[in-house]
Amino acid sequence: MYRSVFSLLLFSTRSDVEGNLPPPRWVLMHGRVICHVDLDCFYAQVEALRLGIDFRSDPYVLVQWGNLIAVNYPARRLGIGRFETIRDAVAKCPDIKHSHVPTYEVGNPDYEYHPNPNKGTHKVSLDPYRRASKKIFDIFGSFPGVLVEKGGVDEAYLDVTEAAEAFAADFVAQNGRHITQDDVAYTKVCPNRDEDLKQFLQCQDSGGVHVETFAPAPTPEYHRLLQAGCAVVMSIRDKVRSELGYDCSAGVSHNKMLSKCISALFKPNQQTLLYPEGTLGFLFDFKFSKLRMFGGKLGQSIEQGLHGTTCGDLWRYDVDAINSVVGDKETAAFVYRRVRGDDVDTLAPRSISKSLLAQKVFSPATDDIAVLRMWFVVLAQELVERLQVFGEEFNMCGRVLNIKLGGSGLGDASDIGNKSFPLPTPTTADALTSVALHYTSIVINNSTSRVLINCVSVTISDFRKMQQHEDPLSAKQQTLDKFFRKRPRSDSAPRVEKETVQSSLKPDDQDDGDDDDVLIIERPHVASPLKPVVNSTSRKRHPAPVDVEVIELD
Ligand code: CTP
Ligand code: CA
Ligand code: CA
Repeated sequence: MYRSVFSLLLFSTRSDVEGNLPPPRWVLMHGRVICHVDLDCFYAQVEALRLGIDFRSDPYVLVQWGNLIAVNYPARRLGIGRFETIRDAVAKCPDIKHSHVPTYEVGNPDYEYHPNPNKGTHKVSLDPYRRASKKIFDIFGSFPGVLVEKGGVDEAYLDVTEAAEAFAADFVAQNGRHITQDDVAYTKVCPNRDEDLKQFLQCQDSGGVHVETFAPAPTPEYHRLLQAGCAVVMSIRDKVRSELGYDCSAGVSHNKMLSKCISALFKPNQQTLLYPEGTLGFLFDFKFSKLRMFGGKLGQSIEQGLHGTTCGDLWRYDVDAINSVVGDKETAAFVYRRVRGDDVDTLAPRSISKSLLAQKVFSPATDDIAVLRMWFVVLAQELVERLQVFGEEFNMCGRVLNIKLGGSGLGDASDIGNKSFPLPTPTTADALTSVALHYTSIVINNSTSRVLINCVSVTISDFRKMQQHEDPLSAKQQTLDKFFRKRPRSDSAPRVEKETVQSSLKPDDQDDGDDDDVLIIERPHVASPLKPVVNSTSRKRHPAPVDVEVIELD
């Protein structure tokens, strides 16, 4: 069986001054076939399809309050990018097709494609994109031998190893020969960069670098498995296109990290393969800040501490040297392996969001309860609708309601107030609105200085499986004690709940737990659902999180 020959290729010595790679040591391991798939200009495709626009040929952009939130590829070829305004786009291409995201109008619980929505009276809905996403994930999940992990609203990791094994065997049975690269010629192969790698190694100082790879051995059997994986991925992409009309791009390699790095190399509508022996050639000049988990503080401290930007720059440091910068041996070992392309993470199937969030940023900032009520009603109506659909689909009901009040828009959507309550049942829009307004009034009335709010958000979380015959909107609550545990805390410490915000261009309605969001939730000590502790309000711009629990939204 080919499994027995899959190996870990290990160079653990330094390269010589000529830049020659030392001979490999072999350790047996099973090579997987992992794909990262991401929809091309996702929201733009959803809207173009609805409008009957040919998104593959006609420049089209999707607009939210004057800014472009999705740009199709013909428009990108004209130099139009996501962080521009519709005015810029029209200046570059007067004929460009465009439309606005759907919105809820105050007073109407259903979203519509209003021709001229107004930020003062409308709230964005992302519902069409969530629905499209669900259909796409249903297709991903319909393939036998394919494991799916949601990576975001429009992207997923697929472990296609089993399906590839079956495909490779079928191929032999049907064709009397093994699959070859020519059979998957529609796949782009990452260019061989051995020569560039060699030159890079020659340029290193005489101490050399720790040239080490953790990739599976590049055996003919494993190559064939990867090629069969490409055929499987192609059939998945074909099904998404033929059944739903969407184009997507994919990367195929032996692990999640590398597949994600390569999936966008040849967008749109392409798939890319990296053979294991190409790992170091791909990585030596690849910016490590683009690796998953390296985008934030970790990447910054390494960049500053070790004076490098590419993976290859870090190859000259051993774990101890990295440790001296990151201050933790485990993290240092993680960094050491990641910059050499190692990622042993398996897929964590996650199809269910852990929270539903609706948020509105508005202007001007206000303490007028009538204005705040107007937005809470819109958010509550939307959430109740989504809770019903979500609850019925997954047989889940929520237990916690969280209200956030921000005074700096998405900059810190909870700097003015942040409080969790038991989710009222029955869960009606009126009930949610009333909790939100009650809390908001307390915050406003108890503040020593004037409170001006320009961002409100409502989240339902802590989902559990429903009992038989329960309804997601009227499921029984657990007792408060069970999930609001009192914890010691400093009286002066602000209560904080933070949620990652991806960029200022993120729609004013964030998605429900996509894209690696992490919630940091403090456990409030609440005596009654409608009596939040008043000092939970903070006027501080950047309160330090204290007494927090980190919950990964997976
Ligand atoms: N999105 C957004 N705001 C962001 C990031 C993403 O509104 N800051 C939305 C975009 O409208 C996009 C979707 O989320 O369509 C998926 O994002 P992403 O995959 O990053 O970009 P795409 O538009 O799909 O483009 P690409 O083809 O480059 O993947
Ligand atoms: Ca995308
Ligand atoms: Ca994406």
